[in-house]
Amino acid sequence: MQKVTLNNGKEMPVLGLGLYKLTDEAATITAISAAANAGYRLFDTASAYKNEELVGKAIARLSVPREELFITTKVWNNAQRLGDIEGAFSRSLERLRLDYVDLYLIHWPVPGCYAGTWRALERFLADGRAKAIGVSNFEIRHLEELRKVSGIVPAVNQIENHPLWYQQELIEYCRDNGIQVQAYAPLARGAYLDNDVMCVLGTKYAHTPAQVGLRWAVQKGLCVIPKSQDPERIRGNARIFDFEIEDEDMAIIDTLNQNYRAASIPEDLRDIQF
Ligand SMILES: NC(=O)c1ccc[n+]([C@@H]2O[C@H](COP(=O)([O-])OP(=O)(O)OC[C@H]3O[C@@H](n4cnc5c(N)ncnc54)[C@H](OP(=O)(O)O)[C@@H]3O)[C@@H](O)[C@H]2O)c1
Repeated sequence: MQKVTLNNGKEMPVLGLGLYKLTDEAATITAISAAANAGYRLFDTASAYKNEELVGKAIARLSVPREELFITTKVWNNAQRLGDIEGAFSRSLERLRLDYVDLYLIHWPVPGCYAGTWRALERFLADGRAKAIGVSNFEIRHLEELRKVSGIVPAVNQIENHPLWYQQELIEYCRDNGIQVQAYAPLARGAYLDNDVMCVLGTKYAHTPAQVGLRWAVQKGLCVIPKSQDPERIRGNARIFDFEIEDEDMAIIDTLNQNYRAASIPEDLRDIQF
């Protein structure tokens, strides 16, 4: 599995398994086990996914040593509003049966809260319970705000990105500031998989449109966390390191952008302009 080195020196796999919507015990155990067998080491959950307990159970059954795994979880908006970041983090660790996570993220930039939340995450980094800390759904203005209050630059910004929503300006800002972008919903939840251009390119490269979309992101220097609970798709989504998309085809995929948001903004942040 290819890795990137984050701005604090820690390595992170380029590919991981997204775990949103996986709340069935048997399905979660099957998915995580299939992924581990296919070479995945990164698993992405969040307290908001309400599956940390299942994820903890599933990873405890793996024969992969803990130090080879990369577990990400996130602090949700209610904990930020209550200022209960320590409580939320302790409960996540307990549910996951872990004494540390590899990456702890602020799930959304809750206005008026996220700078304070970041200071709490800095403490988890200092005491070793989070090996890296980062953010999610942060735009340039949120990252600039953090820069004013903290000397610690987020290691990761996890954002929605795929051929139908290519967040070029934000990605370039992150690259210039040492923040690794990790693309969520990298399959746009299926929205581009029957796109004519992606199908033609799939045929050209003898890979599926899903693999072409994931490969496009990886060639742009992004990490990707496609979700699947189907072992066959989990294996297929990992087969993205055995081909290279030519520059002119990368440029063609860039033109598919239509700022299409596949994931929804949470109810409690709907009125906020992102
Ligand atoms: N930070 C955030 O705010 C945020 C927001 C959204 C998501 N995320 C993270 O990012 C992960 C991925 O995003 P996502 O789950 O929203 O969307 P996604 O990975 O773009 O798409 C997942 C959907 O595509 C299907 N799928 C997977 N592989 C496929 C393939 N090869 N061919 C056809 N269909 C396929 C899956 O169904 P099957 O399971 O049936 O295969 C599922 O319905 C999440 O699970 C979560 O960990 C983070």
